[in-house]
Amino acid sequence: MALGDKINTLFSIYFIFPLAKVYLYLIRNPKTREYFESNGILYLGDVSVDYVKNFIDGISGTKYWMKVYNRIKQANADLAGCAMAGYNFVLPRNPSLIKAILVKDASHFGRVDTLLSLKGDYFVSKSLIFAQGEAWKKTRAKFESAFTPSKIKQNFDQVNQFGKNLVAYLNRELDRGTKAGINFGLAAHKYTLDVAGSTTLNLNTGSLQTRGPSHIEQVWGKFFVSFDNFWNWWKPGFIQWFPRIATYFKITLVDKEIVQFYRHVAKGEMNNSNENEVGDKNNFVQLVHSTWQELYGRHVDRPDEEEWIAANLFGMTVPGYQTTPTLISMCAYVLALHQDVQDKLRDEVNATFESNGGEFNYAAVSQMSYVDMVINETLRMHSPVGLLGRMCTKEYPVPGTKYVIKVGDIILISLYGLHYDEEYHENPQVFNPERFSGVNKDFTFLPFSQGLKSCIGIWMVMMQTKMALCHVLRNFRLTPSPDTLIPMKFVNSQVPVMDPEKVFVNCTKIE
Ligand code: HEM
Ligand SMILES: *[C@@H]1O[C@H](CO)[C@@H](O)[C@H](O)[C@H]1NC(C)=O
Ligand SMILES: *[C@@H]1O[C@H](CO)[C@@H](O)[C@H](O)[C@H]1NC(C)=O
Ligand SMILES: *[C@@H]1O[C@H](CO)[C@@H](O)[C@H](O)[C@H]1NC(C)=O
Ligand SMILES: *[C@@H]1O[C@H](CO)[C@@H](O)[C@H](O)[C@H]1NC(C)=O
Repeated sequence: MALGDKINTLFSIYFIFPLAKVYLYLIRNPKTREYFESNGILYLGDVSVDYVKNFIDGISGTKYWMKVYNRIKQANADLAGCAMAGYNFVLPRNPSLIKAILVKDASHFGRVDTLLSLKGDYFVSKSLIFAQGEAWKKTRAKFESAFTPSKIKQNFDQVNQFGKNLVAYLNRELDRGTKAGINFGLAAHKYTLDVAGSTTLNLNTGSLQTRGPSHIEQVWGKFFVSFDNFWNWWKPGFIQWFPRIATYFKITLVDKEIVQFYRHVAKGEMNNSNENEVGDKNNFVQLVHSTWQELYGRHVDRPDEEEWIAANLFGMTVPGYQTTPTLISMCAYVLALHQDVQDKLRDEVNATFESNGGEFNYAAVSQMSYVDMVINETLRMHSPVGLLGRMCTKEYPVPGTKYVIKVGDIILISLYGLHYDEEYHENPQVFNPERFSGVNKDFTFLPFSQGLKSCIGIWMVMMQTKMALCHVLRNFRLTPSPDTLIPMKFVNSQVPVMDPEKVFVNCTKIE
C-alpha cells in the first residue's frame, strides 16, 4: 500500500470514531487500569498509539489482535483488558469463557454498533446483518430456515452445474496457453457469484461463461468505497454522527449501482416475472418477500417493501462475497503445496463419483469425510474472518472472577489467536487435516462462530466449497506456478500473510 493510501485509510477509520468518544477517552482513561486491575484482570494498557503504529506498518486489525492474544497467552491469563480510543476492550482466551459469551450468556451481548454505526444508512440498516433486537430475531429465524442442510439439498443440482462450469472455465483458460499459472482467485470469485446469484437471487449471472467481468461482477466491483473524493471520505462519519439527517437524505455507503441492481432483483420477484422458477426450488427471493409481508405487511409504520427486500437480498449476499472465494482459493493453494493431501482427497472424490454411476449427488457428497477435514484445516490456517466482536448490553459477571463486564465494553475474540494456539492445536504452523479426525475442536476453532449470531451460510459454504473441490480435483492436478506467492511475510513468525485474490496455481489436465 502506498503511503498516501495508508493515510487515506487511516483517516477514514478515524472518522468513524465519534468525537465525543475521544473526549470521553481523555477523561475515562486513567480509571481504566484500576477498572481491570482491582478485579484481578490483566491490563495491557491503552493500545491506541500502538494500534496506529502497527497499522502504518501494514499490520491489519486481525493480525494486530492476534499479537495481543499472544501477549495474554504468554502471561498465562484467561482474559485481559485494554483500552483503545475511549473504549474498554475485553479479550477472552479461555474456550469455556468464549462459549459462555457466544452461547450460554449470549443475551448479555449484542452487536458492536458503535465503532461504525450504520443506523443512519437507510439501505444497510434495514438488512439482517445490521438489524438489532426483535427485528433481527424474527428476520433471522425466517432467513435461517432457507439455509438449513435440507434446504441446501434443494440447491445441490444448481451448485453441481456450477462445478461443471468452473471446470469448463479453467479448461478455456488453459487452452489460452498462459505462461503464468491460472488465477484461481478470480475463478473462485466467479464461481461464488454464480452460485449466490442462482441460489439466493434467482438470477442466471453467467460469470463463469465470460472471461471478462460479467454484469454482476461489474456491479459488485463497486463494493469497496473508494476514498478518491472528499464526499466519500466524509460519508462514514456523516452517517455515524447525523443518522437522522442521513436517513432523510437517503445516504448510504453502498454504491448507487449496487442499490439499483438489488432493487431490480426485488422488483422482478414482486411482479412474479421470474420465468426460471422451478417447482421445489429453494426460492429465497420469495421468502424475503413473504417475510416482509408477515413482519410488516399490516403495520402502518412499515419500511418500504421494495427497499426492504432489496436491502435484505444485498445483506444476504454481502457476508459471502469475500469470504467464500477466499476459502475456495486458499483450498486450491494448500492443495497445490501439499501433493500428498491432494492425492488422498482425489481418491475420495473419485470413489464418491464412481460409486454413484459417474455423478455426484447430495447424499454421497455429504458422506465424504476427508474433504471436511481438508476444508476445516484450511479454515483454521486461513480463516476468512479474523475477529468476532460483541458489545456488552447487560452487565456480565465473569464466572470464576469478581470482575463484572460493564455495558458498552467491547469483547473481541481473536480467531487467529485461537487457531494458532499450540495449546489447542499441536504444531499450528503445519498444515495437517488429520488433526480434525474425530477430535472435538469446539470453541478453539470458530471460523463460522457459534450461538445465536453465528454464520447462517455455513452449510451453503461447505457444500459449494466441496463441489468446487470435487470437480476441480477430478479434472486437474494443482501445482505451484512460478506466480504462486508462497507466503514469505510472517507476522509474529506465525501467520502467513497473503492475498487470496492473487492465488495463482498451475492446473494440469488429468487425462
Ligand atoms: C467461508 C465463508 C464464510 C465464513 C468464514 C463466514 C463466517 C461468518 C462469521 C464468523 C460470522 C459472524 C458470527 C458472529 O459474530 O458470531 C458470520 C455471520 C453471518 N454470515 Fe457468514 N461466513 C461465510 C459465508 C457466508 C455466506 C455465503 C452467507 C450467505 C448466506 C453468510 C451469511 C451470514 C450472515 C447472514 C451472518 C450474520 C448473522 C447474524 O448477524 O445474525 N455467510 N459469518
Ligand atoms: C507451471 O506451468 C508453466 C506453464 O505451463 C510451466 O512452465 C511450469 O513448469 C509449471 N510449473 C510446475 C511446477 O508444474
Ligand atoms: C416486472 O418486472 C420486470 C423487471 O423489473 C419489468 O421489466 C416488467 O415490465 C414488470 N412487469 C409488470 C407486469 O409489471
Ligand atoms: C481419478 O479419476 C480420474 C478420471 O476418471 C482418473 O484419471 C484418475 O486416475 C483417478 N485418480 C485416482 C487417484 O484414482
Ligand atoms: C468441520 O467444521 C465444522 C464447523 O465449522 C463442523 O461442523 C464439522 O464437524 C467439522 N468437520 C470435521 C471433520 O472436523
